[in-house]
Amino acid sequence: MPFGTRRSLLMSEDLSRGDGLSTRVIAVSSGKGGVGKSNVVANLAVALTRVGKRVLILDADLGLGNLDVLLGLVPQHTIEDVLRGTHTLDEIVLSGPAGIHVLPASSGVARLTALTEAQQVMIQEQLAQLTSEMDVLLIDTGAGISPNVTFFASAADETIIVVSPEPTSLTDAYALIKVLARQYRERRFKVLVNQAKSPREAAEVFGKLDVAVDHFLHVAVELIGAIPYDDYVHLAVMQQKALCELFPDAPAAQAFRRLAHQVIQWPRPGLPKSSIQLVWQRAVTPASN
Ligand SMILES: Nc1ncnc2c1ncn2[C@@H]1O[C@H](COP(=O)(O)OP(=O)(O)OP(=O)(O)O)[C@@H](O)[C@H]1O
Ligand SMILES: [Mg+2]
Repeated sequence: MPFGTRRSLLMSEDLSRGDGLSTRVIAVSSGKGGVGKSNVVANLAVALTRVGKRVLILDADLGLGNLDVLLGLVPQHTIEDVLRGTHTLDEIVLSGPAGIHVLPASSGVARLTALTEAQQVMIQEQLAQLTSEMDVLLIDTGAGISPNVTFFASAADETIIVVSPEPTSLTDAYALIKVLARQYRERRFKVLVNQAKSPREAAEVFGKLDVAVDHFLHVAVELIGAIPYDDYVHLAVMQQKALCELFPDAPAAQAFRRLAHQVIQWPRPGLPKSSIQLVWQRAVTPASN
């Protein structure tokens, strides 16, 4: 059920558990579609709430959003309504499983694939209000190298690039990293290998990307983990529930928990990692901080 007002969001009891640190913004991106970003976002969110973090998900796959479907939520309103000016972000927040908060996107709206600068600013400003109550903002950017993907990826503190073992996933991840490095001067990327059949395969997949990126783009990629191929993921998707909720002992669910434990230990990045992040930080960090 959507929160009616920002007041109800602020008063929500489960929002009083934060550690007082400012919100960490993590974008989850990929070059190729269908590699598992939305499942990573949904399950990392659930796993983070299990360790006491307050998590907000932004479905930034604005024209083809489906996190609501993945989590069995039925939004009355979406970010499209916010961009149209009829609603604010805090009015469209949904309450998801395990106490996560979800900002749903619309589906089938082609004009939302490239936000205008004014729309970007509006989203940033409204996010600043919401994220002051959150420990982590997880952004599902959608796939590819479109302006929305690169905007949200570069605006975050950290960008997790999800790759699968398919060769096309690697070449497309390389293309995304290239755009982020050249256009936004991004220098560091975290890589998560999804759907690997073994730890060895995950290491090989990462190794290929690492060599290419290092040699041709001169940027650093870091392997942050591997989520194994797991049939339970598909079963959870079919039931529109997060794997970590439905099958907490499944191999992939265990890997998501390990990832969450790692994420909460990441040091806060000292410097903005991209050229537009300074602007974003001004928007999401209260002036008093
Ligand atoms: N670890 C995994 N093991 C097995 N299947 C998986 C795994 N991760 C994802 N999948 C399968 O891949 C499908 C696509 O996943 P998901 O929707 O999360 O990808 P996506 O990257 O968000 O796609 P899009 O680019 O279209 O938004 C899932 O429906 C699921 O069936
Ligand atoms: Mg998706």
